[in-house]
Amino acid sequence: MNKKTFYITTPIYYTSGKFHIGTSYTTCLCDTMKRYKELKGYDARFLTGTDEHGMKVESYAKEAGITPQQFADKIAGMAQETWKNLDIINDDFLRTTEKRHETAVAEIFDQLLKQDDIYLGEYSGNYCMQCEAYFTPTQLLEGGLCPDCGRPTTMVKEETYFLRLSKYQDRLLQYIEDHPDFIFPETRKNEVVQFIKSGLQDISVSRTAFNWGIKVKSNPKHVIYVWIDALSNYITALGYDSADDSLFKKYWLNGDEVIHVVGKDILRFHAIYWPVMLMALGLPIKFRLFVHGWYLMKEGKMSKSKGNVIYPDELVDRYGLDAFRYY
Ligand code: MSP
Repeated sequence: MNKKTFYITTPIYYTSGKFHIGTSYTTCLCDTMKRYKELKGYDARFLTGTDEHGMKVESYAKEAGITPQQFADKIAGMAQETWKNLDIINDDFLRTTEKRHETAVAEIFDQLLKQDDIYLGEYSGNYCMQCEAYFTPTQLLEGGLCPDCGRPTTMVKEETYFLRLSKYQDRLLQYIEDHPDFIFPETRKNEVVQFIKSGLQDISVSRTAFNWGIKVKSNPKHVIYVWIDALSNYITALGYDSADDSLFKKYWLNGDEVIHVVGKDILRFHAIYWPVMLMALGLPIKFRLFVHGWYLMKEGKMSKSKGNVIYPDELVDRYGLDAFRYY
């Protein structure tokens, strides 16, 4: 008898700094689940990787006086080393600067453009570089601060491509209603449903203000928005739209269970943008979302960009690997 398949993924982490116990939390969860499913007789596959494009990496590299690729290489190398030390047994490690990913993302964008799910327009609004996200004036905190991380945002006005989220609003709500276990836990699902019901706006999915990213094939002065690039990793890593798409067929199209584990800060991207992209591509949504909270420090969320972090190796040295993983 064929084994049931199980495909589990972490978010791909920004290569903006060394990884801390917040990031290793998600990775250990997925690793444990993969091992458990294997013991239960599943054919389990576990993907992690790094999100290497975008304005943030470009600006950090500039500060360090090296190219974005050199910067990303360094962090991705450190990440792989960290996961090895934590005995993480991922089956694949996807870097968004790899050819296999870049080619497929450019194709995905091109297809959506050709079928008019993406169109050219003009955007004016506020952008948070740390969160790589746009906000409308009503979403911003006082003084134009980012509602997610509290940092200053910058006003952006540029020609940009838009993704027609609005067109998919009703289908997405229907999908969530028909699949009560799509988003776990339920409080997070309610949050998403509220957000969608308040009305989905088309989102800007390209930038011209910087260079570090995958170019739009038909208009290369535009770089594809880092979230369109990043979310696609879950299928490009399986060989979607490539000469060998057998893993994609096995674990996605004909697969049994797919779980994306994500932190609450990136819920909107995974619960709204990603299913809309899949619907537009004519692909099954297939995945379920498991959403977790954060490790906090006195200053709030532990984060690479705030620098208020504890590194896993320090804890492993002091308490041992099993104790760390159990914690
Ligand atoms: N690159 C995007 C994800 C793209 S996935 C298609 C990103 N990267 S991130 O490095 O900023 O965060 C990755 C994950 O780490 C998120 O799920 C986030 O919630 C998690 N964590 C980051 N800091 C964390 C804590 N302090 N505690 C727990 N998880 C944390 O977002």
